[in-house]
Amino acid sequence: MEKLISLAKRRGFFFQSSEIYGGIQGIWDFGPLGVTLRNNIKRAWWRAMVELRDDVVGIDAGIIMNAQTWVASGHVENFTDPLIECKKCHQRFRADQVTDPRHVTDGGEWTEPRQFNLMFKTFAGPVEGSSSQVYLRPETAQGIFVNFINVLNSTRLRPPFGIAQIGKAFRNEITPGNSIFRLREFEQMELEFFVPPAEEMKWLDYWKNERFRFYLGLGVRENKLRLRQHRPDELAHYASGAFDVEYEFPFGWSELEGIAARGNFDLTAHQKASGKDLSYFDDIKRERYLPHVVEPSAGVDRTMLTVLIDAYAEEEVRGEQRVVLRLHPSVAPVQVAILPLSRKEPLTSRARTLAHELRPYFRTEYDDTQSIGKRYRRQDEIGTPYAVTIDFETENDQAATLRSRDDMTQIRVPLEGLRQALEERFR
Ligand code: GAP
Repeated sequence: MEKLISLAKRRGFFFQSSEIYGGIQGIWDFGPLGVTLRNNIKRAWWRAMVELRDDVVGIDAGIIMNAQTWVASGHVENFTDPLIECKKCHQRFRADQVTDPRHVTDGGEWTEPRQFNLMFKTFAGPVEGSSSQVYLRPETAQGIFVNFINVLNSTRLRPPFGIAQIGKAFRNEITPGNSIFRLREFEQMELEFFVPPAEEMKWLDYWKNERFRFYLGLGVRENKLRLRQHRPDELAHYASGAFDVEYEFPFGWSELEGIAARGNFDLTAHQKASGKDLSYFDDIKRERYLPHVVEPSAGVDRTMLTVLIDAYAEEEVRGEQRVVLRLHPSVAPVQVAILPLSRKEPLTSRARTLAHELRPYFRTEYDDTQSIGKRYRRQDEIGTPYAVTIDFETENDQAATLRSRDDMTQIRVPLEGLRQALEERFR
């Protein structure tokens, strides 16, 4: 983890937020490579969950919602963690998560646990009072439930169908940590899939398999992934089944995504609290019902951490250490690096022209600083699958060297055929 975090900072994947002021716990900023990696992850999710399906549509709801939403959903009452405080040093912990040995061995010097609500509060409008108090959403899911009828009425979709959303969520976690694993500001990718009640278990089974496969598609190693079914005592009272996709992080197996069968809990709650009819009438079967929901809910940040950790490798090459990120080409922030062997003409112009030609097709970076060896190392460290080197021969043979990140093989490829050669390798 420490090595990855230092690489992330050194190369520009993520930084502690507002670092020059000492940072702020649980919040991170994403640098030039980080934002690209995140966008690639979100794009892969949106493509798989929305664009490649005819039964899912997307929405983008507000981060701040009518505060009644969170009363109805149960978050105002129940979205809490047990908080305890060490009486000696006044540090605060989650009662179910005290692992700090200094405190555990202290023994008994704790305040009684109290329920601490994780929602961030703020005010909407110029008056600060209880009537203007609002919350930053702690999940994107509720933005979908409150729009269920709007989507049903404005599209031709009928259950089983889904509504997907990607967006920021906020939780005032008592103990954020493990870099970008547990954050106070994070991003979710959620699907609420609305089904006839009798089909709920079938769809839970379907989505848990789909979601597991998604991570394999991002290049995550299969032996580091598992599906874990929730025990009955872990399930929320309304849930009839749930699975986690787990990854073996350096700090142990942990949740990457949750897939839950939520029954009609949310629609029932919003129907009751709003007084609006949220039921669906099936005019073929002539029956009216509140659809049940299967919800795959993933974190962008956790997925980013997973692909980075999974890709990280240290190798010995001819007596030298190399660090390499074996990122899948679909998520790699840079897919091809164009490197003139020297900073001399006509090498640099030829290389710039090539970068310009390839840029519409691949995420392309031009780099003419430092020695070629150092530039290869940098590209290895940021996970660039291929580098193209323009050398003194290029002018004569109209060809360049194509170097592979993973096996470091180098082959000569005609400039004309480069785009195709790369496309074949990324397929
Ligand atoms: N709507 C259901 C829901 O929000 P959750 O298990 O609380 O379920 C789903 O969250 C996913 O969101 C998690 O699997 C994780 O990837 C991500 N997530 C939740 N809390 C997070 C946090 N504090 N920091 C980073 N990611 C978080």
